[in-house]
Formats: sequence, structure tokens, C-alpha cells
Amino acid sequence: MKAFGAFAALSVLSGFVQAGTVIWDGSFDPYNSAADFDKWTWANQVGAYQWYIHGTQPTSRYLATGASYKNPAVTREKQGLKLTIDSTAHWNSDMERSELIPQTTANLGSGRLFYHFSVKRSTTNAPDPSFEHQVLFFESHFTELKYGVGNTKTDLQWFVSGSSKWSTPFQADVWYGVKLNHRYRYNFAYDINFSGNTVSLWASTGGNPLVQVVQPVGTSTFTNSADFHVGVLRLGTTTPPEDWYISRVFIESGSINTAIGSGTGTTQPPTTTLPTTTAPGSTSKPVTTTTASQSPLQTQYGQCGGNGWTGPSGCVSPFKCVEVSPPWYSQCQ
Ligand SMILES: *[C@@H]1O[C@H](CO)[C@@H](O)[C@H](O)[C@H]1NC(C)=O
Repeated sequence: MKAFGAFAALSVLSGFVQAGTVIWDGSFDPYNSAADFDKWTWANQVGAYQWYIHGTQPTSRYLATGASYKNPAVTREKQGLKLTIDSTAHWNSDMERSELIPQTTANLGSGRLFYHFSVKRSTTNAPDPSFEHQVLFFESHFTELKYGVGNTKTDLQWFVSGSSKWSTPFQADVWYGVKLNHRYRYNFAYDINFSGNTVSLWASTGGNPLVQVVQPVGTSTFTNSADFHVGVLRLGTTTPPEDWYISRVFIESGSINTAIGSGTGTTQPPTTTLPTTTAPGSTSKPVTTTTASQSPLQTQYGQCGGNGWTGPSGCVSPFKCVEVSPPWYSQCQ
């Protein structure tokens, strides 16, 4: 107990927020295969998820679990979800959708709750930005991510009741941001105060702790505890399949647990854009800029310039450093 006390004191000193209480755990670890999602039915409501919003084909066409489908920095679970929508994924509409819903008797709509999740896309079966996508949303859309909307359709955007409040370029195969670049954040928490009717957004990249990126916004917050759509809805109909990767799904009450995890040893190239808040334990391996100079060339879609950028300015062959959003951001393309 003495050691725990010392740890708690250190945590307070470093500004590291203590975890709240997980009131619903959407970890995919118990799901060994797509068949496990089929065990849930209206008559037999087992597991962490309801699975009824999907197309006509076998579940294995829409859902798969595996270690490579999660953010590798996440330590709370061993595997993530690959979720697919395609031309067969119609449910009660012309829209294409594959969505899981929390299965729980817990009240997911009172007090202040944090809805956590991480998302990723790949270059294989990449989401088509010419179609609107609703991602991890509620029936009344008071908080959700969207893709394929607005002026920059290639951004993943956070919407509150129809208004875009925040966005990040949706890069392929990036859990780690482009090598810990904080422009890219794919770990999220919707911070919902159901009593105060506000919602705010926490986000981070890779294994970095969540930080609040948008202050509370007033809106009409509501859930019946069975309408948090852990999945994707693509408006319109098109043929190519899209794969979305989802992990670290859970709902927490009390205070937010900002920790993502310590990673799995996957390389996290250091940059000077690391936040001042780091999880306990990460101090044993100080970040230095000398390591960065050992790999001076950026890979495809990685950042190679822009105000404040101190990482690599060259690109691996055959890519060139392109000013995508001057003077803030250049990318290897
Ligand atoms: C939620 O909103 C209510 C009403 O505005 C406020 O009194 C309360 O402090 C908020 N709760 C938290 C945990 O922020």
C-alpha cells in the first residue's frame, strides 16, 4: 500500500489524472471471431455488443477482430476491430452501415461520462471521402465524428449537433499520428455532461495521454443507453468496400483516464512536439533529438515541414516534400 500511495502522490504532482470507473467496457478481447458477435440476438442478449445493424451477408464479411487491428500503444486490450461496409451493408435504408451498439443495463446517459475510442483507416479499402460518413455517433447526432463532409473532405471532423468543431487530416495507417505528430489525433473521448447539456472533446496520438482539444459546447445531450453507434454509416450507395479500425472502446464515469498505454515496443520516433504531460514510466526513456537525426528521411504522408516542425525535412524516395497547408504543414507525397 505504501508503494501505491507514493505512486498516487507522484501522479498528482505530474498532473496525471486518475482513472474513473468503467461503467461499460467495449473491449474486443472476448470476441475471438466474427461468430462471437452472432451470439447476441434480441432473445439472447449476451456479450458487450448488440449486433443487428448490418447487411445481408455473413458477419465475417463485416466484422473481424485481431491484434493488428488495435492501436498498438493501447495496453488495456489485446485486440481491436476491423469493421467493413460495402454495397451489401444495407439495414432498413439506402445507407450502408455496420454498427455495434452497447449491450448493457448500465445507464449510459446520466451525469458526466467519457466515451472512449480509437479509430484508424488504412490504404487498403480506404474510406471514400466523396461520401459523407458518420462515425461513432448517437441517434440524435449531438456528438460524432464525420468524414467526407465540408470543405476538407479528407479530414476526420468532430461535429456537435451538425456543427463542425474540430478536425484532423485522416491519414492512413496511423495510430501514432505521423510519428507522434500532434496534428494527428486518433484516440478520442467524448466528454459528455448529461446534466449540464455540454460535450467536449479529448484526443491524442499514439500512446500519448488524452488532452482536451475542445472546451465544452452546449447542446442537447441524450442517449437511451442503446444508441451509441460503434461503427460507420456511409450515406449513399457505392460499391467499393471500406475498412475501419476501432479499438479502446469504453465508457467511464467520474474523472477521465487520460492514459492510452505504454505501447508494445513499436517504434515511436521522437519529436519535439511531445506534450509536457507524459504517463508515469515514460520518463525512464528520455526523448532526445539525437535519435531523430538517425532517421532523417520521412516516409510517405509523413510531415516534412511547417512552422514549428523540427523533424525530418527530407522524404524517402520517390516522395517529395509538398507544402500542403503553408506555412503550417508540409507532407511527403
Ligand atoms: C455538469 O453540469 C452541471 C450543470 O451545469 C454542473 O453543475 C456540473 O458541475 C457539471 N458536472 C461536471 C462533472 O462537470
